[in-house]
Amino acid sequence: MRKKIVAGNWKMNNTFQEAEELISVIAEDLDEKDIKCEVIICPPSIYLEMASDYGEESVLSISAQNVSGYDDGAYTGEISASMLEAMGINYSIVGHSERRKYFNETNDQLAKKVDRLLDNNMKPIFCIGEQLEERESGKQFEIVEDQLDKALFHLNKDEFSNVILAYEPVWAIGTGVVATPEQAQEMHGFIRGLLIKKYGNDVANETTILYGGSCNAKNAATLFANEDVDGGLIGGASLKSEDFVKIIESF
Ligand code: PGA
Repeated sequence: MRKKIVAGNWKMNNTFQEAEELISVIAEDLDEKDIKCEVIICPPSIYLEMASDYGEESVLSISAQNVSGYDDGAYTGEISASMLEAMGINYSIVGHSERRKYFNETNDQLAKKVDRLLDNNMKPIFCIGEQLEERESGKQFEIVEDQLDKALFHLNKDEFSNVILAYEPVWAIGTGVVATPEQAQEMHGFIRGLLIKKYGNDVANETTILYGGSCNAKNAATLFANEDVDGGLIGGASLKSEDFVKIIESF
């Protein structure tokens, strides 16, 4: 059975005090509940140490939002996978559409980030998804296939089995326009089909594919009810503990 996951991507939000309050409330709340999925918190990197302390004492796992494509060395401002791994961080988001858009990250660079994570026994939460114009012109499947092909399909079966995917249609991120459950299932099913072709049934059926983009406490259950939707990567709604916990309870 593949893992169900709900991950909260905090992006560049919250002061240290607000971040600590948020994670402590979530950890305490979940402590009393019987949760049916893994819960991952992705805080800004400056809060990773604080968050991993909470992670050690709760059910929460902690993820970085980004990682360098370089090994350690003279790369001012970068954070390496080996640094994250040494802090006990097991995951990093890679290829979020905001990184692709505002920081011009290319599929080739993203492939290197994935490699650095895997070299350091970490798991990428790899984001793929089409823009609005691409969906409107019917190119969404082609775009997603190209992203997978260029950034991930150099991996062998063993390596790929450490990857978590997040389908995030760019037009749904932060817009309040969520994909319909049918649109989400259609794309997730398509992605799993590609994985079957490339890596075979076993790997494909074990790969967690999250949905992200305006997923909230109201719509999570209908999205997660789809066969190939294995949870969510949550932005805005992960900043409110009550909403985030409701999403986690949607399984
Ligand atoms: P959103 O963001 O839930 O605020 O739409 C999702 C994401 O960017 O991961």
